[in-house]
Amino acid sequence: MSFLACRIYLNETTSQAEHRLEQMDIEQLSDGEVVIRVHYSGINYKDALAATGRGQILKKFPLNGGIDLAGIVESSSHPDIKPGDEVLVNGCGLGEIHDGGLAQYARIPADWVIPVPTGLTMKDCMILGTAGFTAALAIHRMQENHQTPDKGPIIVTGSSGGVGSFAVNILSNLGFEVIAHSGRKETYSEYLADLGASKVVDSTDLNLGKRPLEKAQFGGAIDNVGGELLAQIIAHTNLWGNIANIGLADNHKLDTTVFPMILRGISLLGVSSTNCPMPLRKSIWQKLGQEYKVNRLSSILTKEAKLEDVSEIFELLLDRKLHGRVLIDCQ
Ligand SMILES: NC(=O)c1ccc[n+]([C@@H]2O[C@H](COP(=O)([O-])OP(=O)(O)OC[C@H]3O[C@@H](n4cnc5c(N)ncnc54)[C@H](OP(=O)(O)O)[C@@H]3O)[C@@H](O)[C@H]2O)c1
Repeated sequence: MSFLACRIYLNETTSQAEHRLEQMDIEQLSDGEVVIRVHYSGINYKDALAATGRGQILKKFPLNGGIDLAGIVESSSHPDIKPGDEVLVNGCGLGEIHDGGLAQYARIPADWVIPVPTGLTMKDCMILGTAGFTAALAIHRMQENHQTPDKGPIIVTGSSGGVGSFAVNILSNLGFEVIAHSGRKETYSEYLADLGASKVVDSTDLNLGKRPLEKAQFGGAIDNVGGELLAQIIAHTNLWGNIANIGLADNHKLDTTVFPMILRGISLLGVSSTNCPMPLRKSIWQKLGQEYKVNRLSSILTKEAKLEDVSEIFELLLDRKLHGRVLIDCQ
């Protein structure tokens, strides 16, 4: 049986990754005990970097793109996973070292497979996708490190994107005051306020200083952009605040000093959705169906598309012409 996949190749002449849609067979897929008919996958920033070659994400070629998927088990040689089960997979190397979710079928190692959590559908799981999972993992790490609403507002950067939108909504639902930072404030203020932001700001509004320690303004932060803004936020964070480091949409560099850490007890918390240990991964997905439930899924889902549309979507995402989440209906 042949099926459609978004397959990424290394162009030997340019040494750059490039993708094309092609038909393939189950036997060509990376190995695993569980064959899944993929119903949905999300388009993440990382997917766009991987498929266009604008980031070096893939560790082997050729490979199907897509770092997350939800679907129905077609066949399984593992006793605990049965045909007909609704499941999801994210991280673990999916779409990086193992054929990913931007395809009509995937073959997956049994220990990567997670049942669709109570309170969520397959579609909900992939509207959330890696972005929702990562926002939840960041919030979990902050709460585990004693972040509470009384420490002050949480600033979320890159807030109109996938991770940012979910972070704003979940934090607000948990009773935190949220300041949404967006470089596209004029366009997305209303959207972000509806998700739960008490204020929507850009860097001009914030007018942050550049000294190693500045007047504390934030209880903590969820940062998707890195670079200078992150360094400034660290210097403006209140005693014992947590800053979850997620992304590098602006810059992978961080130029700071040890002063916020040693004089204010600030913690920088690393967030790696790819490498999250499986017991924690399962518990974060459970939380997304319960105490971290997103109550604005339909407004965060800004585009539904088909596998045939992925090339156009990669470009739009990298050109910063989208917001929220794009869902791919793989069937
Ligand atoms: N650590 C992990 O496990 C993990 C997991 C998922 C994602 N990530 C990373 O987290 C970041 C966000 O991912 P995403 O899926 O939410 O991506 P996304 O949907 O593309 O959102 C990124 C947001 O960042 C802002 N942005 C984009 N380009 C920028 C630039 N040049 N300078 C400053 N801000 C810019 C934009 O928000 P505004 O226009 O509102 O400012 C954009 O909406 C990416 O860097 C991604 O690689 C990391």
